[in-house]
Amino acid sequence: MSDTITTFAPGRVEILGNHTDYNLGFVLSAAIHLGVTIEASRLSKDILEISSETNQRSISIELSNLRPLTEDAWANYPIGVIKVLLAAGFRLGGMRLDVSSDLPLGAGLSSSAALEVATVMAAKALFDLEIARMPLAQLCQKAENEFVGVHSGLLDQASSVFGKYHELILLDFLNVTVETVSLPANASLLLLNSGVPHELTGGEYNERRKQCMLAAKSIGVASLRDAALAQLESAHLDEVTRRRALHIIGENDRVLQGVQALRSNRLQRFGELMLASHFSSQVNFENSTSYLDILVELARKTPGVFGSRLTGGGFGGSTVSLIESVCADEIVQRISRDYHRMTGANCSPILTEPSEGARILA
Ligand code: GLA
Repeated sequence: MSDTITTFAPGRVEILGNHTDYNLGFVLSAAIHLGVTIEASRLSKDILEISSETNQRSISIELSNLRPLTEDAWANYPIGVIKVLLAAGFRLGGMRLDVSSDLPLGAGLSSSAALEVATVMAAKALFDLEIARMPLAQLCQKAENEFVGVHSGLLDQASSVFGKYHELILLDFLNVTVETVSLPANASLLLLNSGVPHELTGGEYNERRKQCMLAAKSIGVASLRDAALAQLESAHLDEVTRRRALHIIGENDRVLQGVQALRSNRLQRFGELMLASHFSSQVNFENSTSYLDILVELARKTPGVFGSRLTGGGFGGSTVSLIESVCADEIVQRISRDYHRMTGANCSPILTEPSEGARILA
């Protein structure tokens, strides 16, 4: 058992496979180099103290009375995971968590999952808990679903845990397995925050989830993972539900095709799949915004960009583009300038590479 420990959990970017995680499908994602750092220490009393450098706030709560806070809602992610750990039978004592982050909030890069994962990593190290990596991610997801109330899938937490340098993470949410696929050395990831905050606590995410469940039920499959295009065409779905299901079926297929493209070093082909994914978000899943559409369209026309799409839940947040690394500066300059000219808004770029997952720093 350590008395003090520093943990780091990265944000993530979803590269192909949109809203497929809770439909038990496939996703290609990556951890990024930015994330949440927690300096953690054990306390002699059974309390949880948390401070946030970002918010300049701190809270203290008894382990026997963990509950969601309304005023300090930012603390609900760490409180939630500690509560879930205790409920799962892990033995914990009091602890202090000093949280800092270099991940932009609301950019759709999973700062909340990073906070959850960094918290469990800290508790695990401080109290010698035996938790393997996938169950660790699942505990975090459970906290987010039950404590925070967003019915998100496992993508964000699993990506933060399983990140690997210059490898994309291939997640299969039916079998709950993970493998990695190398990203060729000449390629980088460019994230562009549209500046329109992404809000998952808004009802759209949970609504999309319900529509997907309804589609699976009407088609007669356990999840949309098992649905084929032919079944969709013969099922009697209303127009909106049909398009939601079409998006998921298409995304699963694009992930598998994307893996083939990467393995044979066909980045141009991979880029086409990203553009097709974005188009499907626009017309089928309706989780894009005009700002994200403009960013993708500008990227599509820029030399050195293989492909581009919205990343994560949608309804705001960021796009991800796969780019030729040597062209990065010109690409950023050109898209930023044209985006400002067309929208009056500023986008903020993050140039990154697939990075290592959650770890102990000291
Ligand atoms: C958010 C959720 C994830 C996933 C994506 C969409 O990031 O937290 O679980 O559903 O949206 O793919």
